This record gives sequence, structure tokens and C-alpha cells, in this order.
Amino acid sequence: MYKEELVFIVRSIVESNTYKSHIAAAEKLSLFYKKVTSIQDLQYKSNETIVTGGVALSSFEAGSCVDDYLRTVFFIKGIHKAITKLCIDYPEKSINILYAGCGPYATLLLPLLSLFHKNRINAILLDINVSSLNSVQNLISIMGLEEYKLQLIEANAITYSKPENFIIDLAISETMHYGLTREPQVAIVKNIIAQMPAHGILIPQEINIDLAYTFYAKEPFVKDAVHNVKGRNELQPYAFRIDLGRLFTISKEHFNGQIKSESKFESNFYNLPDDYSNHPDLCIFTELVIFEDIELKTAESYITNPYCVTSLYNFKDTSVFQLVYDITDIPQWTYNLQDKY
Ligand SMILES: C[S@@+](CC[C@H](N)C(=O)[O-])C[C@H]1O[C@@H](n2cnc3c(N)ncnc32)[C@H](O)[C@@H]1O
Repeated sequence: MYKEELVFIVRSIVESNTYKSHIAAAEKLSLFYKKVTSIQDLQYKSNETIVTGGVALSSFEAGSCVDDYLRTVFFIKGIHKAITKLCIDYPEKSINILYAGCGPYATLLLPLLSLFHKNRINAILLDINVSSLNSVQNLISIMGLEEYKLQLIEANAITYSKPENFIIDLAISETMHYGLTREPQVAIVKNIIAQMPAHGILIPQEINIDLAYTFYAKEPFVKDAVHNVKGRNELQPYAFRIDLGRLFTISKEHFNGQIKSESKFESNFYNLPDDYSNHPDLCIFTELVIFEDIELKTAESYITNPYCVTSLYNFKDTSVFQLVYDITDIPQWTYNLQDKY
């Protein structure tokens, strides 16, 4: 019974083509998970784990990510498109999928599996929290997916080594907080990219990080991605924002070239503008290319909300600054200051 219900829901996600239909379909998926799991229980709220490279959310918080509606819908659409492409490109083999940080629902993959024949899928679902994996195991039976080749692995995705005979065709990881702070997306992706072949697809395909002077409080920012979510056409950027350009892109192709040191990105130096009364904040903007034309734009989701590094008023006498993104510990943005003269 649950299997048919889920197929109906995931089809409505894949086929949705207006913001209204995206939201309606995401709501159905969220209600489905709440109905068939017990992730609300207290034991799932206390298993947040801190590792070198970031914080792994508790199972409860990870489950709540389903309620970032546009994020959930666009990732599922992108992953559906990527698996479909791989099935066409490689008609004879099963598609090897590594899902790093699957959480208690494996939200971005499990619902899609029924749309593909069991022989076409060979997946490793990995999480650092064993209670999340236990929940996924339950869901596999509830959803009638026992015949699919799915391995559940408790491991740290930052240091995990894939089995030698598992050539990654598709890697998925959504372990990110806005502005790439707090969670270990970059450290995880860095480890996975190093183990991927040339033809492998990484999702998200690109995480684009841009810098701007703006008025942070006047920028679009989603506070409730269930009841008050807006699409890109409704979101107006602050009129006096000054874009300073791209800091870096996390992608399979560009990652190694741009973050040169092991765990730090340092930007160029910027001159403090003479007058910044109209745009007093230094902010990071994040946009994702999930796969091909499926994108998640600024403030469409919690993970693409703008992030304020500091107010330019904090720089006072100093006229030249540099941004630093550091994943040595919990990922964070800082800055270096230099006197102009
Ligand atoms: C933001 S949640 C996303 C959950 C689910 N993939 C989704 O999209 O709804 C991130 C998940 O990644 C897991 N995670 C974070 N860091 C990890 C690490 N270093 N190794 C393994 N899992 C990790 C967390 O435990 C959590 O379940």
C-alpha cells in the first residue's frame, strides 16, 4: 500500500512544473515520512556528531530537511534526471550510486527507486549516525524496496574509502548549511571527488559562492520553507547590492583547482568602498546547479540563504580586506585586514 502511495508522490514531484505544484508535492512527501517513521522520538534529537570538517546533524534535524520544500523537490528532480541519463548512457549495467549523508529518510534517493528497475540500481547509503541508518532500513521494508541492491554503511564520509570494485557513477551529498558554514559539505565532497571516475556525476553539480556588499536585513531570506516559500521570480534582491563576483565553485571539475590548500580558501584583497552607507554588510551568496538545468537559487531554500560575514563598519580604519573560508574545524568565514598604506 505504501509503495503505491510513494510512487504517486514521487511522480508528482518529478512532473511538477510550477511552484505551487512543487510545494504541494513536497508536502505530500513530508506527510508520508511523518506517517511511516518515528523520527520525532527523543532519542533521534541528541545524536548530533562533531567531526573534523563540520557538524553532522542529529537524525531528527536531518529528517527535518525534507521540510525545506524547494530544496527537496529540486534535488529529487535533479537526481531523477541524472539517473535517467546514466541509464541511457550505460544501458547494459547497473548504476552505482554513493549517497553520502543519507539521513533517516534517504529523502533524495529512496522515493525515486521504484521508478527504476531493481537491476539498474546498486547503491551505498552512508551516514555517520547509526539511528538514521536503522530508520532507512525500516523504510526499505515499508516502501517494498528489499529487492534493490542497497548497502547501508555507518561511516564518516570525510574519510570513507569506497570498495575497490564500486566505480561511482553518481555521488549525492547534501550536507550543507547556508554560506557553506557549519556542516561538512566541502570536506565530504573533496573526499568523494578524489574517488570518482571521469564519467561520474556529482550532485550538486556546482555550488557557486559569490561575494557582495549589501544590506543583509533587506535581502530575500527564507525563514519558513514550508508556509512561506517563494520562487526565484518573486524574490527581489536588494536594489543597492554591489556584486563583487564569484569567490569559488565547488564542483567535480573546479574543486581541486580553486581550493588550493588542504582546507582553506583565501580570496583576493578588496578595497573598502569610500561610501558604504547603502550597502554596509559583507555577504556570501550561494546558488546551486543541482543537475544540468535544475537549479536552486538564492533564498529559495534554507541552504541558499544569504550569509553575512561582517558589517563593513567593523573594518573602520582598515581599507583592504581578504575573505577566508576555512574547513579545518567547523567550516567558517573570517577575514584578514591590511592597512592600505
Ligand atoms: C542535511 S542532512 C540531509 C539528509 C538527507 N540527505 C536529505 O537531504 O534530506 C545531512 C546528513 O548527512 C549526515 N552527515 C553529515 N556529516 C557526515 C559525515 N561526515 N559522514 C557521514 N554522514 C554525515 C548527517 O548525519 C545527516 O544525516
